[in-house]
Amino acid sequence: MSDSPAVQSLLRTMGRDLVATGDAIPDRRLQDWSGVPGARPLALLRPRTVEQLSQMLAVCNAHRQAVVPQGGLTGLAGGACCAPGDVAVSLERMNQIEELDAVSGTMTVQAGATLQSVQDAADAAGYLFALDLGARGSCTIGGNLSTNAGGNRVIRYGTMRDQLLGLEAVLADGSVVGGLHKMVKNNTGYDMRHLLAGAEGTLGIVTRAVLKLHPKPQSLATAWCGLPSFDAVTTLLRRAKAELPGGVSAFEVMWPSYLDFMLQRVPGLRQPLPQRHAFNVLMESAGADGEHHAAAFDDFLGRMLEAGVLEDAAIARSGTDARNLWAVRDATGEFPLLLPGMAAFDVSFSIRDIGQAALECEAMLRERWPGCTALVYGHLGDGNLHVIAHVDGSPADVVADIERAVYDLVRRYRGAVSAEHGIGLLKRKVLGHTRSPAELAAMRAIKSALDPHGILNPGKVL
Ligand code: FAD
Ligand code: LAC
Ligand code: ZN
Repeated sequence: MSDSPAVQSLLRTMGRDLVATGDAIPDRRLQDWSGVPGARPLALLRPRTVEQLSQMLAVCNAHRQAVVPQGGLTGLAGGACCAPGDVAVSLERMNQIEELDAVSGTMTVQAGATLQSVQDAADAAGYLFALDLGARGSCTIGGNLSTNAGGNRVIRYGTMRDQLLGLEAVLADGSVVGGLHKMVKNNTGYDMRHLLAGAEGTLGIVTRAVLKLHPKPQSLATAWCGLPSFDAVTTLLRRAKAELPGGVSAFEVMWPSYLDFMLQRVPGLRQPLPQRHAFNVLMESAGADGEHHAAAFDDFLGRMLEAGVLEDAAIARSGTDARNLWAVRDATGEFPLLLPGMAAFDVSFSIRDIGQAALECEAMLRERWPGCTALVYGHLGDGNLHVIAHVDGSPADVVADIERAVYDLVRRYRGAVSAEHGIGLLKRKVLGHTRSPAELAAMRAIKSALDPHGILNPGKVL
C-alpha cells in the first residue's frame, strides 16, 4: 500500500472502487499520445460524482498531494503525464450527456464524455456540435476544454472555448465553481470559462459543461484542390470566404512532402489528384440548402480554375468520396508509429507570414539535417502549421537542436509556440518566446491564488 498520507486517507474513506492503486491502474494511464515517458501514479481516482471529486481534492490539498487530471490521454504535449509521486484523476465514470435542450440549442455534458459521443448526440437531435479533430473517438470534453482544442472547423466555428456557455469545475481546495448557464450574454464579473479553457488542468478539474450547438448544415461540399503557389492558396482562402454561400468550414493545407509521405506510407489512402501540385488544399463549405449550395460550390471552383488560382480539383460527389479525401488529412495519428522519436510542432503565424515561414522552416531543416524527413501541413485558415521533423535514429541531441531552431524561427516571426495542443511539459521552456515576462507573472499570480499549494498538475504550463 502507498505510504502517501493522502492516498491512505482516500483509501480509508472512499475504498478501492474509487481509489485504484498498483496493478489495478491500467498501463494506458502512464502516457499520453505525445510519448513523453510518464510514471505510474500512486493512485488513480475515479469519482462517480462531483461531490466525490470535491472530497478527493480537499484531502489531497490538505496533504499537499499532487494531482494530475487525465481525460482520454490523446494530448500531444505531455500535460496528462504523471511524475513519480503524483495521483491521477480520471472522469471516465462521469461521461453522461445530461440534457439536450433543443429550444436553447445547448447540451449539458459531464466532462468524461468523449467528443464523438457528444457529436453523435447532437447529430441525432438535428444539431451540429462543431468541434472536430482526429482523436474524436477517445478524447474527452474535459480534455478538449482544458487544452482549448482547435481542429478542423475552427475557421467557421472557433475553438473549444467558443463552444462553451457554462462550465462547472472543482478547484484545488475542493470548492465547486462555475455555473451550468445557458445564457449567451453574462457579464457578471470574471469569467471562469475562459480561465479554465486552455488551463491544462492547472487551475481546476472541469466536471461539467454546457455546450453550444449549431444548426446542422443541410449540405457539406468538399473538394481537394491542387494549386501552383502560396499566393494562390491565400487567394483561394480569401475568395472562398467572400464568395461561397455558407463560407468555408475547413481549409486544410498540405505541402507536397506531406502528401507524398502519406500516400507512400499509409496503406489504403487514395491519391486525390492525378498530378503533383505545389500546394494541396482540402476545402469544405457547409451550406443551409443542398441543391443551390452544391451548385454554387461547383461554380466557384470553376471560376477559380479559369482564373488560374487552381490547377485541378476533385469534388466529392458522395459521403464516401468526402471520407476518402479526409482520410488523407486525418492519417496524422499514424505519425508516432511511422516516425518514432520525431520532433512535432504546432505553431501559428499571421496568414501574411505563414507561407514564407513554412518555406524557410522546411528549407532550414533540409539544409541543416540532410536526409531529414520534414513534413508540413496545417489548419491554414487559422494560421496554424504542423511541422514534423524526423532524423533516422532520433538522437536526443539532434531532436533538441531541431526544436531550438524551429522555435527560434517562430520567435522571429512573432508566432505562437503552440496554436492548439497546449504547453504541457514539452513546451514550457519556450513559453517565453510567445508570452512576455509580465504575462508570465500574471499567470503565476492566478495559479497561486487558485491553487496556493500547487497541487493541480504541477510542473505543467508554467
Ligand atoms: P488528455 O490528453 O487526457 O489531457 C490533456 C490535458 O487536459 C492535460 O493537461 C490534462 O491534465 C487536462 N485535462 C484532461 N481532462 C481534464 C479535466 N476534466 N479537467 C481539467 N483538466 C483536464 N488537438 C487539437 O487541438 N486539434 C487537432 O486537430 C488535434 N488532432 C489530434 C489528432 C490526433 C490523432 C491526436 C492523438 C490528438 C489530436 N489533438 C488535436 C490533441 C488534442 O489536445 C486532444 O486530442 C484532446 O483535446 C485532448 O483530450 P483528452 O481527453 O485526450 O485529454
Ligand atoms: C492535426 C493534429 C496533430 O491537426 O493537431 O493533425
Ligand atoms: Zn491540428
